[in-house]
Amino acid sequence: MIVLIGAEKGGVGKSTLATNLAVHLAHHSVDVAVLDTDGQATCARFVERRDEAGILPSVPCVQRTGDVASTLRDLSRRYQVIVIDAGGRDSREMRSAMAVANLMLVPTKASQADLETLPKVNELIGLARGLNPDLKASAVLSMAPSNPIIREVEDARELLAQFEQMELADTVIRDRKVYRDALLSGHGVVELNNSQARAEIQLLAQEFFELQP
Ligand SMILES: Nc1ncnc2c1ncn2[C@@H]1O[C@H](COP(=O)(O)OP(=O)(O)O)[C@@H](O)[C@H]1O
Ligand SMILES: [Mg+2]
Repeated sequence: MIVLIGAEKGGVGKSTLATNLAVHLAHHSVDVAVLDTDGQATCARFVERRDEAGILPSVPCVQRTGDVASTLRDLSRRYQVIVIDAGGRDSREMRSAMAVANLMLVPTKASQADLETLPKVNELIGLARGLNPDLKASAVLSMAPSNPIIREVEDARELLAQFEQMELADTVIRDRKVYRDALLSGHGVVELNNSQARAEIQLLAQEFFELQP
């Protein structure tokens, strides 16, 4: 299964979702690898820190840029799940990955400026389905304010429900410091003791993967 984490924007939580999903899957005995196509190498550096700290299970990470379709076909012979961190913006990496992925997750913040980038992604998914009709796609609200008084998430939900090419994940990833700490220490939040963040990643994974308990 090839899972692409992609968006038109940087700083929306792509690398955070990629690392956390990969670590969570690895804990469920899934043979998972990350493909980091972003020059910022956030996932590659995450895995380096994880390995240096000796955190298990280890999560292999491959870095590639340009057309990644053949790399993905090759990796999918060796791993059960490949999680791609596609970096910011529309790119060759993202488009070529969309041509072979089974699932695309599009993290987005609930703010207006972020939501405005989604029609473009919606259109790209429509185009990709010309080549890859089985591509599933879902937006994921990410870095959402944890204060329930802020109505942004409800408003964003309404808007996101209108896109033809994308579903909307039920699980919302909230803005929590533990996600930043985990990225820096080489952990997934499922390995740290913040039950809310852990539950978010578990629920998100449940929505999209069939895992053994
Ligand atoms: N849910 C979250 N809560 C708090 N901080 C987050 C969350 N998701 C991401 N971050 C932080 O925001 C910054 C950008 O996130 P990142 O995953 O690198 O985004 P992207 O890969 O889309 O550029 C990082 O410092 C990261 O630790
Ligand atoms: Mg990133």
